[in-house]
Amino acid sequence: MTRKFDKLFDDWSKTYDQTVSGRDIEYKEVFEGYDDILLEVAKKAKGYIFEFGVGTGNLTEKMIKMEKEVYGIEPSKGMRNIARHKLPGATIVEGDFLEFPMPERNPDTIVSTYAFHHLTDAEKADAIQNFGKMLGEGGRIVFADTIFVSIEVKQDMIKEAESKQFNRLAADLKTEFYPTISTMNHLFGEAGFAVTFTQKNRFVWLMEATKKE
Ligand SMILES: C[S@@+](CC[C@H](N)C(=O)[O-])C[C@H]1O[C@@H](n2cnc3c(N)ncnc32)[C@H](O)[C@@H]1O
Repeated sequence: MTRKFDKLFDDWSKTYDQTVSGRDIEYKEVFEGYDDILLEVAKKAKGYIFEFGVGTGNLTEKMIKMEKEVYGIEPSKGMRNIARHKLPGATIVEGDFLEFPMPERNPDTIVSTYAFHHLTDAEKADAIQNFGKMLGEGGRIVFADTIFVSIEVKQDMIKEAESKQFNRLAADLKTEFYPTISTMNHLFGEAGFAVTFTQKNRFVWLMEATKKE
Protein backbone atom coordinates (compact mmCIF):
# COMPACT_ATOMS: atom_id res chain seq x y z
CA MET A 1 0.00 0.00 0.00
CA THR A 2 1.79 3.13 -1.18
CA ARG A 3 -1.10 5.63 -1.18
CA LYS A 4 -0.91 6.89 2.42
CA PHE A 5 -0.45 10.51 1.40
CA ASP A 6 -3.30 11.19 -1.06
CA LYS A 7 -5.37 13.30 1.39
CA LEU A 8 -2.32 15.38 2.38
CA PHE A 9 -1.51 16.09 -1.27
CA ASP A 10 -5.13 16.74 -2.28
CA ASP A 11 -5.12 19.46 0.40
CA TRP A 12 -1.60 20.74 -0.39
CA SER A 13 -2.20 20.83 -4.17
CA LYS A 14 -3.90 24.25 -3.98
CA THR A 15 -0.88 25.97 -2.41
CA TYR A 16 1.92 23.63 -3.52
CA ASP A 17 3.33 25.97 -6.18
CA GLN A 18 3.59 28.76 -3.57
CA THR A 19 5.55 26.42 -1.29
CA VAL A 20 8.07 25.48 -3.98
CA SER A 21 8.62 29.14 -4.83
CA GLY A 22 10.00 29.61 -1.29
CA ARG A 23 7.05 31.44 0.24
CA ASP A 24 6.69 28.82 3.01
CA ILE A 25 9.52 29.69 5.41
CA GLU A 26 9.60 26.18 6.94
CA TYR A 27 10.26 24.57 3.55
CA LYS A 28 12.42 27.33 2.03
CA GLU A 29 15.66 25.35 2.34
CA VAL A 30 14.07 22.11 1.14
CA PHE A 31 12.98 23.84 -2.07
CA GLU A 32 16.09 26.00 -2.49
CA GLY A 33 17.13 25.78 -6.15
CA TYR A 34 13.91 23.89 -6.99
CA ASP A 35 13.71 25.07 -10.61
CA ASP A 36 17.37 24.31 -11.31
CA ILE A 37 17.06 20.87 -9.72
CA LEU A 38 14.04 20.03 -11.88
CA LEU A 39 15.78 21.42 -14.96
CA GLU A 40 18.81 19.20 -14.34
CA VAL A 41 16.61 16.11 -13.98
CA ALA A 42 14.68 17.08 -17.14
CA LYS A 43 17.90 17.46 -19.14
CA LYS A 44 19.15 14.04 -18.03
CA ALA A 45 15.97 12.23 -19.09
CA LYS A 46 16.29 10.49 -22.46
CA GLY A 47 13.96 8.52 -24.73
CA TYR A 48 10.57 7.41 -23.40
CA ILE A 49 10.24 8.74 -19.85
CA PHE A 50 8.13 7.55 -16.92
CA GLU A 51 7.66 10.28 -14.29
CA PHE A 52 6.34 9.25 -10.86
CA GLY A 53 4.68 11.68 -8.43
CA VAL A 54 4.12 14.39 -11.06
CA GLY A 55 2.46 16.71 -8.51
CA THR A 56 1.43 19.98 -10.14
CA GLY A 57 3.42 19.11 -13.26
CA ASN A 58 6.48 21.34 -12.83
CA LEU A 59 9.04 18.73 -13.95
CA THR A 60 6.65 17.40 -16.60
CA GLU A 61 6.33 20.91 -18.03
CA LYS A 62 10.11 21.29 -18.35
CA MET A 63 10.43 17.94 -20.15
CA ILE A 64 7.52 18.68 -22.49
CA LYS A 65 9.10 22.06 -23.35
CA MET A 66 12.23 20.09 -24.34
CA GLU A 67 9.94 17.99 -26.60
CA LYS A 68 10.51 14.85 -24.56
CA GLU A 69 7.93 12.07 -24.40
CA VAL A 70 6.59 11.71 -20.86
CA TYR A 71 4.23 9.22 -19.26
CA GLY A 72 3.22 10.87 -15.98
CA ILE A 73 1.92 8.97 -12.94
CA GLU A 74 0.35 10.67 -9.90
CA PRO A 75 -1.81 9.26 -7.08
CA SER A 76 -3.46 12.46 -5.77
CA LYS A 77 -6.56 13.59 -7.66
CA GLY A 78 -6.04 17.21 -6.56
CA MET A 79 -2.48 17.19 -7.91
CA ARG A 80 -3.50 15.44 -11.14
CA ASN A 81 -6.24 18.00 -11.79
CA ILE A 82 -3.82 20.92 -11.40
CA ALA A 83 -1.15 19.29 -13.59
CA ARG A 84 -3.70 18.45 -16.30
CA HIS A 85 -5.06 22.01 -16.19
CA LYS A 86 -1.53 23.46 -16.57
CA LEU A 87 -0.54 20.92 -19.26
CA PRO A 88 -3.62 20.03 -21.31
CA GLY A 89 -1.70 17.84 -23.81
CA ALA A 90 0.23 15.83 -21.23
CA THR A 91 -0.36 12.17 -20.40
CA ILE A 92 -0.93 11.95 -16.64
CA VAL A 93 -2.52 8.81 -15.23
CA GLU A 94 -3.61 7.73 -11.77
CA GLY A 95 -1.09 5.46 -10.09
CA ASP A 96 1.88 5.29 -7.77
CA PHE A 97 5.44 3.96 -7.70
CA LEU A 98 4.26 0.38 -7.24
CA GLU A 99 0.89 0.19 -8.99
CA PHE A 100 0.18 2.01 -12.21
CA PRO A 101 -1.28 1.28 -15.64
CA MET A 102 1.63 0.01 -17.73
CA PRO A 103 1.73 1.52 -21.23
CA GLU A 104 2.65 -0.59 -24.25
CA ARG A 105 6.32 0.44 -24.22
CA ASN A 106 8.96 0.08 -21.52
CA PRO A 107 10.70 3.28 -20.42
CA ASP A 108 14.25 4.35 -21.25
CA THR A 109 14.42 6.70 -18.24
CA ILE A 110 12.46 6.87 -14.98
CA VAL A 111 12.39 10.24 -13.21
CA SER A 112 10.91 11.62 -10.01
CA THR A 113 11.45 14.71 -7.87
CA TYR A 114 10.56 15.20 -4.20
CA ALA A 115 8.47 12.01 -4.06
CA PHE A 116 10.37 8.75 -3.50
CA HIS A 117 10.51 9.31 0.29
CA HIS A 118 6.80 8.51 0.48
CA LEU A 119 7.66 4.82 0.21
CA THR A 120 8.95 2.78 3.15
CA ASP A 121 12.39 1.28 2.56
CA ALA A 122 10.78 -2.11 1.78
CA GLU A 123 8.50 -0.43 -0.77
CA LYS A 124 11.47 1.46 -2.23
CA ALA A 125 13.23 -1.89 -2.71
CA ASP A 126 10.19 -3.35 -4.53
CA ALA A 127 9.86 -0.27 -6.75
CA ILE A 128 13.55 -0.24 -7.71
CA GLN A 129 13.53 -4.00 -8.40
CA ASN A 130 10.52 -3.49 -10.69
CA PHE A 131 12.22 -0.56 -12.45
CA GLY A 132 15.24 -2.80 -12.99
CA LYS A 133 13.01 -5.27 -14.84
CA MET A 134 11.47 -2.53 -17.03
CA LEU A 135 14.72 -0.81 -18.01
CA GLY A 136 17.19 -2.30 -20.49
CA GLU A 137 20.97 -2.18 -20.09
CA GLY A 138 22.03 1.48 -19.86
CA GLY A 139 18.49 2.51 -18.83
CA ARG A 140 18.47 5.20 -16.17
CA ILE A 141 16.68 6.28 -13.02
CA VAL A 142 17.12 9.98 -12.22
CA PHE A 143 15.64 11.02 -8.89
CA ALA A 144 15.98 14.18 -6.82
CA ASP A 145 14.77 13.90 -3.24
CA THR A 146 15.65 14.50 0.40
CA ILE A 147 18.14 11.94 1.65
CA PHE A 148 20.67 12.11 4.47
CA VAL A 149 24.35 11.28 4.81
CA SER A 150 23.60 9.44 8.07
CA ILE A 151 20.87 8.89 10.69
CA GLU A 152 22.79 11.34 12.92
CA VAL A 153 22.59 14.10 10.30
CA LYS A 154 18.86 13.44 9.94
CA GLN A 155 18.37 13.66 13.73
CA ASP A 156 20.32 16.94 13.76
CA MET A 157 18.05 18.34 11.03
CA ILE A 158 14.97 17.37 13.08
CA LYS A 159 16.43 19.07 16.18
CA GLU A 160 17.26 22.17 14.14
CA ALA A 161 13.70 22.31 12.72
CA GLU A 162 12.28 21.96 16.26
CA SER A 163 14.55 24.70 17.62
CA LYS A 164 13.30 27.05 14.89
CA GLN A 165 9.72 25.95 15.70
CA PHE A 166 9.36 24.62 12.17
CA ASN A 167 6.86 22.11 13.53
CA ARG A 168 5.42 20.97 10.18
CA LEU A 169 8.90 20.32 8.79
CA ALA A 170 10.00 18.50 11.96
CA ALA A 171 6.89 16.29 11.90
CA ASP A 172 7.43 15.60 8.19
CA LEU A 173 11.07 14.58 8.76
CA LYS A 174 9.99 12.30 11.61
CA THR A 175 7.02 10.59 9.95
CA GLU A 176 7.93 10.21 6.27
CA PHE A 177 10.58 7.75 5.09
CA TYR A 178 13.66 9.83 4.27
CA PRO A 179 16.49 7.35 3.73
CA THR A 180 20.25 7.54 4.10
CA ILE A 181 22.62 7.49 1.13
CA SER A 182 23.86 4.11 2.25
CA THR A 183 20.31 2.65 2.12
CA MET A 184 19.71 4.06 -1.36
CA ASN A 185 23.12 2.81 -2.52
CA HIS A 186 22.24 -0.66 -1.27
CA LEU A 187 18.76 -0.70 -2.86
CA PHE A 188 20.06 0.40 -6.27
CA GLY A 189 23.00 -2.01 -6.08
CA GLU A 190 20.76 -4.98 -5.23
CA ALA A 191 18.64 -4.23 -8.31
CA GLY A 192 21.68 -4.13 -10.64
CA PHE A 193 22.27 -0.38 -10.88
CA ALA A 194 25.44 1.71 -10.57
CA VAL A 195 24.48 4.92 -8.76
CA THR A 196 25.97 8.34 -8.03
CA PHE A 197 24.77 10.94 -5.51
CA THR A 198 25.20 14.72 -5.84
CA GLN A 199 24.04 17.15 -3.17
CA LYS A 200 21.83 20.01 -4.44
CA ASN A 201 20.87 21.80 -1.21
CA ARG A 202 20.94 20.96 2.52
CA PHE A 203 18.17 18.37 2.00
CA VAL A 204 17.97 17.31 -1.62
CA TRP A 205 20.34 15.04 -3.54
CA LEU A 206 20.36 14.05 -7.18
CA MET A 207 20.52 10.27 -7.62
CA GLU A 208 21.55 8.94 -11.02
CA ALA A 209 21.33 5.18 -11.40
CA THR A 210 22.33 3.30 -14.56
CA LYS A 211 21.29 -0.29 -15.21
CA LYS A 212 24.30 -2.55 -15.53
CA GLU A 213 24.56 -5.55 -17.86
C1 LIG B 1 6.26 16.99 -2.73
S1 LIG B 1 5.28 16.50 -4.09
C2 LIG B 1 6.41 16.60 -5.47
C3 LIG B 1 5.70 16.93 -6.76
C4 LIG B 1 6.62 17.13 -7.96
N1 LIG B 1 7.28 15.92 -8.34
C5 LIG B 1 7.61 18.23 -7.72
O1 LIG B 1 8.82 17.98 -7.82
O2 LIG B 1 7.19 19.34 -7.42
C6 LIG B 1 5.16 14.75 -3.86
C7 LIG B 1 4.25 14.08 -4.87
O3 LIG B 1 4.38 12.65 -4.74
C8 LIG B 1 3.11 12.10 -4.80
N2 LIG B 1 3.13 10.79 -4.12
C9 LIG B 1 2.85 10.50 -2.83
N3 LIG B 1 2.93 9.18 -2.63
C10 LIG B 1 3.28 8.62 -3.81
C11 LIG B 1 3.51 7.29 -4.26
N4 LIG B 1 3.42 6.26 -3.42
N5 LIG B 1 3.81 7.07 -5.55
C12 LIG B 1 3.94 8.12 -6.40
N6 LIG B 1 3.74 9.42 -6.04
C13 LIG B 1 3.42 9.65 -4.76
C14 LIG B 1 2.20 13.10 -4.13
O4 LIG B 1 0.83 12.90 -4.44
C15 LIG B 1 2.78 14.40 -4.66
O5 LIG B 1 2.19 14.79 -5.86
